[in-house]
Amino acid sequence: MDKIVVEGGVPLRGSVRVSGAKNAALPAIAAALLAEGDHVVRNVPDLADVRTMGRLLAHMGCAVERSADRHTQHVRVPSTVKAEAPYELVKTMRASVVVLGPLLARWGRARVSLPGGCAIGARPIDQHLKGLAALGAEIRLEHGYVEAQVPRGRLRGTTFTFDGQTVTGTENVMMAAALAEGRTILRNCAREPEVTDLAAALRRMGARIEGAGQDEIRVEGVERLRPLDHAVIPDRIEAGTFLLAGALPGCDVTVTGCTPPELEALVEKLRAAGAEVGEVPGGLRVRGPARPRPTDVRTAPHPGFPTDMQAQMMVLLCLADGSSRITETVFENRFMHVQELLRLGADITVEGKTAVVRGVPALSGAPVMASDLRASAALVLAGLAARGTTEVLRVYHLDRGYERIEEKLEPLGARISRVRA
Ligand code: EPU
Repeated sequence: MDKIVVEGGVPLRGSVRVSGAKNAALPAIAAALLAEGDHVVRNVPDLADVRTMGRLLAHMGCAVERSADRHTQHVRVPSTVKAEAPYELVKTMRASVVVLGPLLARWGRARVSLPGGCAIGARPIDQHLKGLAALGAEIRLEHGYVEAQVPRGRLRGTTFTFDGQTVTGTENVMMAAALAEGRTILRNCAREPEVTDLAAALRRMGARIEGAGQDEIRVEGVERLRPLDHAVIPDRIEAGTFLLAGALPGCDVTVTGCTPPELEALVEKLRAAGAEVGEVPGGLRVRGPARPRPTDVRTAPHPGFPTDMQAQMMVLLCLADGSSRITETVFENRFMHVQELLRLGADITVEGKTAVVRGVPALSGAPVMASDLRASAALVLAGLAARGTTEVLRVYHLDRGYERIEEKLEPLGARISRVRA
């Protein structure tokens, strides 16, 4: 298995460009299932998860092709599909579950493997299923699969309130409602920019959707949608990860191609920790302090501080001049990186949902093991800041969400390489 080797302690300087958002590309590709014909999704990142989504649609009978530069995804949806997402694919990528809404809405049936738990928590999909049932789907759980069908043939508009905010749940039910008969009102919706981007993609297909990005989404169902041609938004979590790299002591990094308003909660915390962050044409420039200030952080759904940035923020606070408290409210088990950061000399204790991070003057390189996608990114950042050599093992986690991170960091001066096993 590949590993990333980082020779730390070199301040990063320069500019890095953000790729398209993984979590916007995945539902946009799934949305193709809502209409027969030739679809194009642009600005797609070249990532393992995007390839998995392509394999999933190919399994259903779609013709899936990527452009030579790997950033445009073509999908031809035939007149009938095999409405199934098998366990072999869903277990490698939970986000596969976003095919459920489109399959049910367009084809009236779906067989989708239950994703099961993962490294960061139990992650049930009960809200996806409740929302789809409210639209008229009949759902059974059998042999590890969600077996769903629409007895009337077409879903029917409804009013539904999510018990808790869920990003892919909102996306699934919104996609299903797009083809339902009549009006759907969804309340307590996730307000993440990826939901707003998906609504924009659906509108390009002819869907009538208002309110995405707010608590209440209103959908006027239409009978038919046309093929999609949509460019996904920049990846705010990749952008945030590079901003964090620039906020490390002595660094000066400009992140181009990002959307600053989507990064406000993070930027506020970087400033609180002593980094200088300013808008420059085309992006954000961040300069790290000599030593970060301790800062408390609490994750929350958008527009709060993103859970997907919690591990990376922890790295900065590991080096602060004092103690910080990081509280994770979105997932129940998202502190797997703590044990690995301890190996690098960090001083952290976890008390329930809160990690108490007592800053140390320096980290020291060591071999560490990635447990999930964002934890891996945090370990790379920690390696950049640490003295000596850090080896990050299980890089496949990183490759699910970051497009060749070592090739993006190297031009900034990072001494980083991928060692092929
Ligand atoms: N939840 C339920 N029931 C549901 C759905 C969610 O209880 O039916 C709970 C979850 O267990 C969790 C909370 O609600 O505690 C929020 O989960 P959400 O459904 O919003 O997460 P998701 O849609 O599965 C997306 C991103 C994640 C990101 C979260 C939170 C995609 C493909 N994934 O997951 O991204 O952490 O939203 O913002 O959009 C990543 O990219 O590394 C990643 C994990």
